[in-house]
Amino acid sequence: MPNTVLVTGGSGLVGKAIEHIINTEAEGSRFGKLPGEKWIFARSADGDLRDVEQTKKMYEKYKPTHVIHLAALVGGLFKNMKYKLTFLRDNLAINSNVLEISHQNKVEKVISCLSTCVFPDKVEYPLDENKIHIGEPHDSNFGYAYAKRMVDVQDRAYKEEFGDNFTSAIPTNVFGPHDNFQLEDAHVIPALIHKCYLAKQNKTPFVVAGSGKPLRQFIYSYDLAKLFIWMLRSYDDVTPLILSVGEDEEVSIKQVADAIVKAVGFKGEYTFDTTRADGQFRKPASNGKLMGLVGDFKFTPFEDALDNTVAWFVANYENARK
Ligand SMILES: NC(=O)c1ccc[n+]([C@@H]2O[C@H](COP(=O)([O-])OP(=O)(O)OC[C@H]3O[C@@H](n4cnc5c(N)ncnc54)[C@H](OP(=O)(O)O)[C@@H]3O)[C@@H](O)[C@H]2O)c1
Repeated sequence: MPNTVLVTGGSGLVGKAIEHIINTEAEGSRFGKLPGEKWIFARSADGDLRDVEQTKKMYEKYKPTHVIHLAALVGGLFKNMKYKLTFLRDNLAINSNVLEISHQNKVEKVISCLSTCVFPDKVEYPLDENKIHIGEPHDSNFGYAYAKRMVDVQDRAYKEEFGDNFTSAIPTNVFGPHDNFQLEDAHVIPALIHKCYLAKQNKTPFVVAGSGKPLRQFIYSYDLAKLFIWMLRSYDDVTPLILSVGEDEEVSIKQVADAIVKAVGFKGEYTFDTTRADGQFRKPASNGKLMGLVGDFKFTPFEDALDNTVAWFVANYENARK
């Protein structure tokens, strides 16, 4: 029987990127569909995964042999700080239902998605896969972080008790088409793209919060999508895998803002509001384990990926999440 791959959270930033790659890469190629393989991209309207009965119905309907589990309650810092219990409870429910119903349906493989937020607050950098559980996560998002950490614990317990092939990926900061471009509650790249776009339209200054000095690792959603597809085919270890560009590819928020100004074609006044907090200066994650396994893999140059994202936002302004 050919495989049926169910992608939960298929309508989000990462899910849409996997859909794009699987539909555009040649069948049978490294990141393309296998002959006869079926891919299903589920959104919350197809079933609320916090509810076990709706989760069961989704599995009865699609009969997946493989699952890439992306669905999660996600949000920016403010939302995470305000709704810690909701982030903990909803994400624990979603993940427990997906893993248990996958187990009951004898799904051959599940890859769940963690985040670098799971790592301890006080930790020696760079982050790596062995440091997830060695200290408390940052207080601002402990609800989300603990719910995500538990996926790794559940994966190991399902493996030890039943031999299930469940594992997880840890992407660093993702950006690309179909992101959430809200001005206040989005991640830094989509929020700055939207802000710069409005500054150009309204002929007002483009003001970036903070000094622009902090450094971050960003991964383009289409690159991440390819790595998920590679993991589905080739990674059968229960331990999580960081999916990221290298530590030497960190970029500063100023470099991000400069690239956005260029891509948007903004010619007005452009400043940094140094009265606003900067956040952590850097929190590098090592992609050493990934690069030791994936073989030949080229990440899209940051500026090219950013140009594509800005072009998508401009072309889809009316319907983009904002
Ligand atoms: N974005 C990042 O920088 C980043 C970094 C590291 C890790 N991650 C992880 O990557 C995964 C995907 O993130 P994303 O940025 O693509 O998120 P996103 O764009 O916000 O998409 C979230 C997805 O989850 C679905 N969903 C939410 N609640 C659900 C529920 N109760 N039942 C069923 N589906 C539900 C949403 O469906 P609807 O839209 O239909 O409601 C949507 O498809 C998440 O697990 C996230 O933690 C993201």
